[in-house]
Amino acid sequence: MQIRALPFFSLSLLSSVRAGVTVYGQIPLADVTATAPGQQYTGAAAYDPTILTPPPIPNPPPNTQFGIQLSSSAQNTPGLSIPQIGPFLGFSIEVSVVNQVLGLNSSFLQVPFLNLMANIKERAGAVHVRVGGNTQEYASIVPSLEDGKDMEKDKTSLTNPTATPGLFLTPEVFYMLGNISALANVHWYLGVPFNDTTNFRLQIAEISEAVLGDHLLGLQVGNEPDLYSAHGHRPDTYSPADYMGEFGNLIGAIANDNNIPVKNNLIGPSVSGQWTPEDVWNTGFVQAYTNSLGYLAVEHYPTDNCFAQYNVGVYHNPQDEFPSYLTHNAGKQLVQPYLNSTYMAQIWQKPFLMFETNTASCGGFPGISDSYGSALWALDFGLQMAASNFSGAMLHVGGQNVFYNPFTPPPTNQTNYHQWTIGPIYYSALAVAELMGPSGKSQIIDLNANGGNEFTPGYAVYESGKLVKLALFNYVTDPTGASTYTATLSIDTGVPSQIKVKYLESSSVSNKAENITWAGQTLGGVFQADGRLTGNLDIKTVNCDQTANQCHIQVPAPGFAIAFLDQNSYNDVNPGSPQTFATTAWTRTFNTATMEPSVLATSNGRQEDSYMGSTSRGESGANTRAYVSSGVVATVMVLVGAMMVGRGL
Ligand SMILES: *[C@@H]1O[C@H](CO)[C@@H](O)[C@H](O)[C@H]1NC(C)=O
Ligand SMILES: *[C@@H]1O[C@H](CO)[C@@H](O)[C@H](O)[C@H]1NC(C)=O
Ligand SMILES: *[C@@H]1O[C@H](CO)[C@@H](O)[C@H](O)[C@H]1NC(C)=O
Ligand SMILES: *[C@@H]1O[C@H](CO)[C@@H](O)[C@H](O)[C@H]1NC(C)=O
Ligand SMILES: *[C@@H]1O[C@H](CO)[C@@H](O)[C@H](O)[C@H]1NC(C)=O
Ligand SMILES: *[C@@H]1O[C@H](CO)[C@@H](O)[C@H](O)[C@H]1NC(C)=O
Ligand SMILES: *[C@@H]1O[C@H](CO)[C@@H](O)[C@H](O)[C@H]1NC(C)=O
Repeated sequence: MQIRALPFFSLSLLSSVRAGVTVYGQIPLADVTATAPGQQYTGAAAYDPTILTPPPIPNPPPNTQFGIQLSSSAQNTPGLSIPQIGPFLGFSIEVSVVNQVLGLNSSFLQVPFLNLMANIKERAGAVHVRVGGNTQEYASIVPSLEDGKDMEKDKTSLTNPTATPGLFLTPEVFYMLGNISALANVHWYLGVPFNDTTNFRLQIAEISEAVLGDHLLGLQVGNEPDLYSAHGHRPDTYSPADYMGEFGNLIGAIANDNNIPVKNNLIGPSVSGQWTPEDVWNTGFVQAYTNSLGYLAVEHYPTDNCFAQYNVGVYHNPQDEFPSYLTHNAGKQLVQPYLNSTYMAQIWQKPFLMFETNTASCGGFPGISDSYGSALWALDFGLQMAASNFSGAMLHVGGQNVFYNPFTPPPTNQTNYHQWTIGPIYYSALAVAELMGPSGKSQIIDLNANGGNEFTPGYAVYESGKLVKLALFNYVTDPTGASTYTATLSIDTGVPSQIKVKYLESSSVSNKAENITWAGQTLGGVFQADGRLTGNLDIKTVNCDQTANQCHIQVPAPGFAIAFLDQNSYNDVNPGSPQTFATTAWTRTFNTATMEPSVLATSNGRQEDSYMGSTSRGESGANTRAYVSSGVVATVMVLVGAMMVGRGL
């Protein structure tokens, strides 16, 4: 599979640019109406109706009967992963869409978002969310903004398209995160602005540590620094050694800042593939900064859809790409370049994260990124990362004009009559939460099931040293039922008398969320979700044959199943009365930690003067304009993205 056709392309920024479009209302967001056959859909990508053709049944077809022999004890099971947390699969949210996705301020939170987070929390104990992206590099804290806003794009960069885009945040944003944490136990990864490494703006670190406390997991230092020079943010000669030097400068600045009490939660190098992780490890980065590093991280997408979206690079036909997502090899190939790093990370005793990923950069593919197939892909990729000793992975959330969102709020002017739209990959996060559970003591292994057949993978999960769950996939779409398989489980100490099985079901890998159920329940189709699962819970009970030491577990084609082999592990992730939030907006206040206002006054970051002009990095205006005139939508916000693209061309 292609690894990033356009290494210079600003992946995160593009989604934020699109988000920016929404914030400023510059693209008419048509109401979604049914598209008659033959009629072109012109609405936003998040509601795109494209349905692809599922790949044919493989030839030869996978065996439909196979055995899985396991030991009940982790000790007798070589190759298990390191212990994994429940919220292994989390979300990465572009800073600039925070107001649409999280809430307007600390007392006006998006209830569907709270419910979506609570669903994960009820199963995994917590949720891990990264708020960041390229916009974090140019963020500044200001004490307040006019009209009570808590976030605003730099006005000067709006009027001067070649200027560096700035983003102003008020402390209110952090109180909002704090209140979300109090309600749904969300833990956050944030980023320290890194565009100017001689004059650091450390206020995000100061405020987030003060307001979020233990709910701040870590602070990213540099988002995809291997793309900085291609984007014009650093000289062409910018190297891993330069990044290391700047990282060191930041450590020095934090050491001298008494308002940043936690000094060992930094995250790097967040390379996207232009530099390998080893390029950074070989500088001695980890050894030099081990006392400051909380996590090691990378970011990566399997391929891109930049041509269709921005007329840049190589065209990838979604129908042709679809089969490459529907195999166990997809996740294995994505993980392979990081196996040495996850091995080294264990030696260095640092968690290793996939900080941002999704089906394809530049917004994903219509018909793939929003299909049931994408849910299977994200689940298998997620479990492959867990089995390969990553410590977490974040699925990216962009604006209205991406295909891959795990969840999308309605366009701003439709919030009174439309609900949210859930993407299939949200179910992947839910299922991974159930597989890992809240104990933090789950270990997982790829079973190489069915003789390693790429269409029928399986994983086993051990918790506190004991076999507790199986995860089984069937990537084949076969409406005849002939490709449904039966896995026969036997265990060295004997099978239980009964097991419970939950299915993530849909009749075709091409289907969209409206046709997906998790154990019989759904979050609905386009504009239908308030974030709560509805419908009757449908959990299958399988009676095992203890004399023959066999449990027969069926997996339809397509299908995904979790088999629960242990009652306690099952109870942990099947809440009897799940926490939900039912009003349209959460307006109660929670008074916990607050930020000492004097910190803002004395901080070394920029304040009101941040309004005074932002520095142009000298990108070619000619390229910028040339791109936009040939582009689909000529708006100021897109100019920002075009600037990045233009330089790479
Ligand atoms: C929503 O806003 C967009 C952009 O301003 C506008 O084109 C569209 O007509 C509005 N839709 C509704 C239903 O108000
Ligand atoms: C939060 O936003 C709501 C909705 O815009 C507004 O009514 C409220 O006054 C805001 N609260 C604060 C503390 O800014
Ligand atoms: C860094 O970003 C800030 C905020 O957008 C801006 O004011 C500043 O000029 C930038 N500095 C550099 C060196 O790009
Ligand atoms: C939650 O919101 C209220 C109301 O704005 C605010 O007073 C409080 O400080 C916030 N709590 C946290 C933990 O941020
Ligand atoms: C793994 O990474 C380490 C640290 O960069 C490096 O020394 C080693 O050569 C790498 N091993 C392989 C097999 O790539
Ligand atoms: C994950 O780490 C464990 C413990 O070090 C090791 O046994 C296992 O082989 C690793 N898995 C992979 C896929 O590298
Ligand atoms: C939902 O399923 C029905 C029946 O299989 C199918 O005709 C329809 O195209 C599917 N729609 C979506 C959006 O998945």
